[in-house]
Amino acid sequence: MATNPIPRFPDGFLWGVSTSAHQIEGAAEEREPSVWDVFTAEPGRVKDGSTAAVACDHYHRYREDVALLAGLGVDAYRFSVSWPRVNSPGGLDFYDRLVDEVCAAGVQPVPTLFHWDLPAALDWLDRDTASRFAEYVSVVAERLGDRVPRWITLNEPAEHTLLGHALGVHAPGRRLMFDALPVAHHQLLAHGLAVRALRAAGATRIGIANSHAPVRPASGEPADVAAAAFYDVLLNRLFADPLLLGRYPEGIGELMPGDVTADLTVIAEPLDWYGVNYYAPARVGAPLGTETRSGGLTLPAGLPFSVREIENVPVTDHGWPVVPEALTELLTGLRERYGDRLPPVVITENGCSYEGVDDQERIAFLDGHLRALHRAVAAGVEVHGYFVWSLLDNFEWAEGYARRFGLVQVDPGTLERTPKASYAWLRDQLRAQR
Ligand code: NOJ
Repeated sequence: MATNPIPRFPDGFLWGVSTSAHQIEGAAEEREPSVWDVFTAEPGRVKDGSTAAVACDHYHRYREDVALLAGLGVDAYRFSVSWPRVNSPGGLDFYDRLVDEVCAAGVQPVPTLFHWDLPAALDWLDRDTASRFAEYVSVVAERLGDRVPRWITLNEPAEHTLLGHALGVHAPGRRLMFDALPVAHHQLLAHGLAVRALRAAGATRIGIANSHAPVRPASGEPADVAAAAFYDVLLNRLFADPLLLGRYPEGIGELMPGDVTADLTVIAEPLDWYGVNYYAPARVGAPLGTETRSGGLTLPAGLPFSVREIENVPVTDHGWPVVPEALTELLTGLRERYGDRLPPVVITENGCSYEGVDDQERIAFLDGHLRALHRAVAAGVEVHGYFVWSLLDNFEWAEGYARRFGLVQVDPGTLERTPKASYAWLRDQLRAQR
């Protein structure tokens, strides 16, 4: 059991927890549908057949949830604004009330403007969706901007592209493989236009939440090394290179729709900080000619790489390897690759799925990752904050409610909230940091 205090982080370090609208809000009938509502209505899409129609009913219970944030003693709360809800009568009023409640609890609201729940009438294959996003962002910034100190444009555009549009295991369920690349470009363009819209509304401290994972070759064989390098480009550089360097990785720009040169100027609008979602490293090798699986990810045959299990490490209930030192490696690697072009980093998500309220494994996971994060800080990476995924057990996309990432248990039947052992542990760690 991990009981020792974690090392001291720099003064002003931002401690927080994260959630997203579709995963916790419920009240689906009080807004227009998103691509996730359409997707989950199709039989077989979600493992336990569930939907997020009610989820944690946070829409009606947000006061109780904000009280849980306050009890935890975090500085900041990362949530997402649902675009379909903002399009619906009374939708913006909800976020207005939520932001007021969060501020009144002495916590900074950190909204993410897109966390995968695209209005069902829209499509990221259409370039126009990027402009529509910027219009929506202006409306939100106008309404909430006076109380929001820090914004996030998009959450994990890589997963939204790969899982939702290339492999079809997330909404909207397309299996376009490499033809999904325009979805990546249009999200990046949407991000750049949103940065401009936010600045025009007076916002400062704008960032994005990108997923990153160190990619390890399955062996030293040249074919494995080359496959892992290509996977690394798709996972770690497809979004970060255009954002931070103003260009696509070699060989990728040509696959994008039309001449993207002018768009890259928009995409590379300077960021104030860079959000990193980290869960686990990936082990990748040459194609095996069959479907491959690792940590819940299934890749079909026919791709130029395959995913492999990482041996001899513990795994979470989700099957994800627990490798805290990979977080240090990841951050020092980003610093090496991007140098001064890398803005200060905030870990916008890190966490794990385990059963039960006496969640000693989660405590060990968080303890290990915070120590690894501290080593990255000691090695000179500028890190300004850390957010745990997640405050509440919630709707884990295609996994339904079977995966439990919360510091607080939510009973799927009664919706009763019960803080887990990790909640008390984190609260005590945060007190010791003050
Ligand atoms: C990343 C996503 O942003 C979040 O929605 C998801 O629940 C967690 N990872 C855990 O899979």
